[in-house]
Amino acid sequence: MDIKITRTQNPMAKPLAEEEAGTLGFGNYFSDHMFVMNYSLDKGWHDAEIKPLEDLRFHPAAMGLHYGQEIFEGMKAYRTKDDRMLLFRPYENAKRWNNSCDRMCMPPMDEEMFVEAIRKIVDFDRDWAPHAEGTSLVLRPAMVATTANLGVHPSDEYVFFIITSPSGAYYPEGIDPVSIYVEDEYIRAAMGGTGFAKTGGNYAGSLKAAKLAEEKGFTQVLWLDGIEKKYVEEVGSMNMMFVIDGTIITAPLDGTILPGVTRSSVMQLAKDKGWNVEERKLSIDEICKAYDEGRLDEAFGTGTAAVVSPVGKLQYKDKEMIINDFKTGPKAKELYDSLLSIQIGDAEDPYGWVVEV
Ligand code: COI
Repeated sequence: MDIKITRTQNPMAKPLAEEEAGTLGFGNYFSDHMFVMNYSLDKGWHDAEIKPLEDLRFHPAAMGLHYGQEIFEGMKAYRTKDDRMLLFRPYENAKRWNNSCDRMCMPPMDEEMFVEAIRKIVDFDRDWAPHAEGTSLVLRPAMVATTANLGVHPSDEYVFFIITSPSGAYYPEGIDPVSIYVEDEYIRAAMGGTGFAKTGGNYAGSLKAAKLAEEKGFTQVLWLDGIEKKYVEEVGSMNMMFVIDGTIITAPLDGTILPGVTRSSVMQLAKDKGWNVEERKLSIDEICKAYDEGRLDEAFGTGTAAVVSPVGKLQYKDKEMIINDFKTGPKAKELYDSLLSIQIGDAEDPYGWVVEV
């Protein structure tokens, strides 16, 4: 790929004090440069550039702004102790990217090209990757429809860009357990919809329920299926796993949940530890019953941003369930450690998941 490179003349201050203080948070700071590339029906992908981070310019009729033709990915680059930069299963993100493209009628991208663009921007701004434990350089590839037209149909032009953000833990709780509200009014996705695609509309539609849950003191909502409001699906920023009688149970990929890269990695790690893993429909009633009978051992979410996040409390209607005394459970802890140590290059990677930049 031919990339035009323009280095910033005004490097920004890095959030070193925040890194030191452990207050980086998630997605609050951005590195000096971004990768940008355009697409048009006649030229295909063209004009790849790494340039100083700046505002993107759109015509106010840009279709992405009106009809939400937009997709993104969630990835991270990890700094190893010997200062190498590692990506985690970037080809899985490239595949999911293209599945999102297909659902949203957007132009796909060659997987190699996608990963190459990621590598280039991470390498260019590698000094922005934080060093502290539990931090990473969050990568946000995104694509927006830019044709100026008010008709509802796929755009002819798109802008693809990657920005990077030195970040810490996603949740304010850090790696401590979060409280989750089981949403029984609003829904996130239905069969045949866009639930499996990483498109902004899925997140926009989740804000109202999340806001109401936050007002009640919860960090996130757990979505139930869109038809019966009976089966657990995902939490908008992570897939969910429940440990009942020692077995890890997670919702199947039936088109309504995001096929998480961390989800599949954690399932693999758990199976290789000899633990039972079931991918199946799990009703909220089954969870409540297991809780009442003392068989709900743990609940945790998995996601690139969330890594492995324990859930300490679930609220379903009037029923409050405090899980594992609101402490991180042993399976969540072990999976977190196993996963992260591969991601940051501390442990052997027998799976070939890690790709050096
Ligand atoms: C990620 O896990 O990286 C995501 O993209 C989730 C996000 C909405 C914070």
